[in-house]
Amino acid sequence: MQNPLPLLGVNIDHVATLRQARQINYPDPIHAALQAELAGADFITLHLREDRRHIQDNDVIQLKQLMQTKMNLELSTQQIMIDFAKKIQPYNVCLVPENRQEITTEGGLDVIRGIKQITNMCSQLLNYGINVSLFIDPDTKQIDAACETGAKAIELHSGEWANNNTQDELAILKDATAYANSKGLIVNIGHGLNYHNVKPVAAIDGITELNIGHAIIARAVFTGIQRAVSDMIQLIQTSKSTK
Ligand code: PXP
Repeated sequence: MQNPLPLLGVNIDHVATLRQARQINYPDPIHAALQAELAGADFITLHLREDRRHIQDNDVIQLKQLMQTKMNLELSTQQIMIDFAKKIQPYNVCLVPENRQEITTEGGLDVIRGIKQITNMCSQLLNYGINVSLFIDPDTKQIDAACETGAKAIELHSGEWANNNTQDELAILKDATAYANSKGLIVNIGHGLNYHNVKPVAAIDGITELNIGHAIIARAVFTGIQRAVSDMIQLIQTSKSTK
């Protein structure tokens, strides 16, 4: 039997980026999330950054009340962020590295280096009934460290695949997925995935979810969000048949 196809998490941060460019109240990321759900998104992903450059606290609070699917809240490893998550109770928190100068999340968490702090945060969140995933590079040493933290899931950073599009980069994602699955971890993948590079990644066996933001919101400018989301779902759903 074929392995199930990955689910889609739609990242709505870029709708908030457009809103914040004018510091006004539109376009509304909540509106975008609800449209993405109508088109079949399985998760809504959003990143509350320390500098609040796009998503604001109130967006997270309102979305939690209105959404029908599952919230995947990306947060840095700051205690204040963990405390915020405890109040919101998202389905999942994805712990990510954060650097104020970066344009977007540039690399994975260094779980080896931060193991003590990350383990502590995982146990706080798990004790609150919140699932945790760790955004890491596709690296066996980082996967080993992730296993020790108590997190049940990882999200592999697909930036190198997105930038270079080589068979070597694809093999790295495949091998890391198989390795993490063999250790009992749920594997999600995200960053830089778009309509042209998603299929080979979606076809990797053992992936639970893909998180995609920029490409979907960029396409939505021309097609509307519902069409942009359903076009992406169509690519994911046909990925294994055209492997
Ligand atoms: N997953 C994580 C952990 C991220 O930080 C991001 C970027 O915010 C994404 C997925 C989505 O990346 P993109 O916007 O390039 O699709």
